[in-house]
Amino acid sequence: MFDYTICKCKQVSFFDVEDVLNKSEKFESVEKAFKEVQEITHCSTGCGGCHDKILDAISEIMTKHRPYKA
Ligand code: FES
Repeated sequence: MFDYTICKCKQVSFFDVEDVLNKSEKFESVEKAFKEVQEITHCSTGCGGCHDKILDAISEIMTKHRPYKA
């Protein structure tokens, strides 16, 4: 796994997103996880162009890297 910038406006990387998810207990959905990630990192509050990429990263982290359970 390598790190890369997902949100250029707010300089949020894949690892930043992963960090937020790792610190949280569990998420009921990708949308809720997104809200939490956005609150902490402020990703997707600029141009908004990274929105889908952030969601993709969250789903990837949730399904592949840790067994997040609702
Ligand atoms: S790239 Fe994320 S808000 Fe613009």
